[in-house]
Amino acid sequence: MTKERVQKLIAACGLASRREAERWIEAGRVAVNGAVISLGDKADPLLDQVTVDGKPIGRSETEVTVLLNKPVGYVTTMSDPEGRPVVSDLLTDVSERVVPVGRLDLTTEGLLLMTNDGDLAQRLAHPRYHVEKRYLARVRGTVEAAAIKQLAEGVKLEDGVTAPARVRLVRTTRTHSWLEFTLHEGRNRQVRRMCEALGYPVSRLKRIAYAFLQEGELKPGQYRRLTAQEVARLKGLGGLK
Ligand code: URA
Repeated sequence: MTKERVQKLIAACGLASRREAERWIEAGRVAVNGAVISLGDKADPLLDQVTVDGKPIGRSETEVTVLLNKPVGYVTTMSDPEGRPVVSDLLTDVSERVVPVGRLDLTTEGLLLMTNDGDLAQRLAHPRYHVEKRYLARVRGTVEAAAIKQLAEGVKLEDGVTAPARVRLVRTTRTHSWLEFTLHEGRNRQVRRMCEALGYPVSRLKRIAYAFLQEGELKPGQYRRLTAQEVARLKGLGGLK
């Protein structure tokens, strides 16, 4: 086997994109056979041991997918240069190197998948998958029916008009409204930006469903491992083989 650039080996395991892996290398988090490497270094995937933060990469780990109920205040990443709490801090008995599938904002709570199954991560990122995600958003003010219709039909954002979504008013209080969004897109800060665009700032946001997965018994900060059947069902969502 020939040697390959280490960022390519990390990406091939489904742990990160090559660019992200390059950043890990630059941050001194990646070692080959125990020695921290620099960008451009190569390794033999069969003979050399590549580690990130001291944990071996590779296919020898058992595949684990975890459903976490992310609390507010945790960054969706594996390590934060500013030292803020990160989602991986919560996985106290998961030794496998699972990484988040997609992202929830620092102040968003709710369901987040984390996996070391590169096949699953790649499938869920595939545009054909269009995984359905459901959110509950608390916004300031009373949302008019016309605004709900517009949220559902599409809102013009700086990166284009949003795709049709299901949006319903769940309840109103004296000061706020609760809206439920069912989206297939996953743009950065999408729900917040959609609501802000119509003059309704979001003061709470929670992802309450990811495909067929729901919160169930999981309290904020708690997680559970998915069953093999659940993983197979997720992998079947896009109709890919
Ligand atoms: N939409 C947002 O605005 N934020 C999230 O974290 C997820 C969806």
